[in-house]
Amino acid sequence: MSWVHITDYSPSQGWANPADADSRSRESCRLLEEGGVLYFDQVPFDLPDPDREFLRSQKQSGLRVHKNISYRPKTDALRGAAADDPEGAQRLHEIMRSYSKNVTQFVDRLLSPYAKDRQLDFASYRPLEEKGRDLAYHKRNDLMHVDAFPTRPTNGGRILRVFVNINPAVNRIWEVAEPFEPLAGKLAQKAGLPRYAKYAGSPGRKLRRTVAPIFRSIGLKNLDRSPYDHFMLHFHDWLKENRDYQEKWPKTRLEFPPQSCWLVYTDTVPHSVLSGQFALEQTFIVPIRAMVAPQKSPLKVLEGLCGTALAN
Ligand code: SIN
Ligand code: FE
Repeated sequence: MSWVHITDYSPSQGWANPADADSRSRESCRLLEEGGVLYFDQVPFDLPDPDREFLRSQKQSGLRVHKNISYRPKTDALRGAAADDPEGAQRLHEIMRSYSKNVTQFVDRLLSPYAKDRQLDFASYRPLEEKGRDLAYHKRNDLMHVDAFPTRPTNGGRILRVFVNINPAVNRIWEVAEPFEPLAGKLAQKAGLPRYAKYAGSPGRKLRRTVAPIFRSIGLKNLDRSPYDHFMLHFHDWLKENRDYQEKWPKTRLEFPPQSCWLVYTDTVPHSVLSGQFALEQTFIVPIRAMVAPQKSPLKVLEGLCGTALAN
């Protein structure tokens, strides 16, 4: 697992040496795409102290926050705020909007090769203690998994996430394991990849693709989910259910201290969160055409293993 601590990047100036900014950016993209973690010990963009304090006070003032709070930048919509506190919800909305904007500017500069093509997905605020959370089995984040979104198929695009630990005193603790390419090499067949490859060429899929636009017009989305997305959703659950994988495969423990920020392709690096409270996160979907090392993408790795095209 490569873990790279970046110390020569500042929120105001970007890379310390402008002459090699482009090559540092490309190198950072490559590192992430190959399954590394980029780490900053201070938040590398503007995130005002009063905003962090407000976010933390949400949880402390009366447990009104029951789940993750999500922000959808494209529609400027906030989900999960307390319904009985419109003023607080308004402030929360402003903070999430500004966080999303600032982290996006930061990513577009740090990872400039992606800036043109990346799509902005949801942002989230995670106010609950992760240790001992009572979640449905497949939703448990303390089990090792790679991410896949049930409601937002990526069709081969990759899931890049930026996290910030805004806890004033306590580390956020993760475990990570060997990345997608070697993992899939060992487990994808066993997890049923040939079935998904067969589906890719089946008349059933052709039919679904033909009727999907009609169904989409009446609100039935994702009927034409790609074989890739089907497999990734299945693999997410399959890994969580696999006791041998959960208990016996090697893991590396990572500790993210207060103020730290980290970036990782969570569809590529198996991860679990063991403990920690108060984190911000922003997701980007990066299409294959923007990759600097496309052959490392889960889509290309899986296609290489089964010899079949898996995207739509
Ligand atoms: C996850 O993506 O599994 C959760 C990570 C976190 O909240 O730290
Ligand atoms: Fe995850």
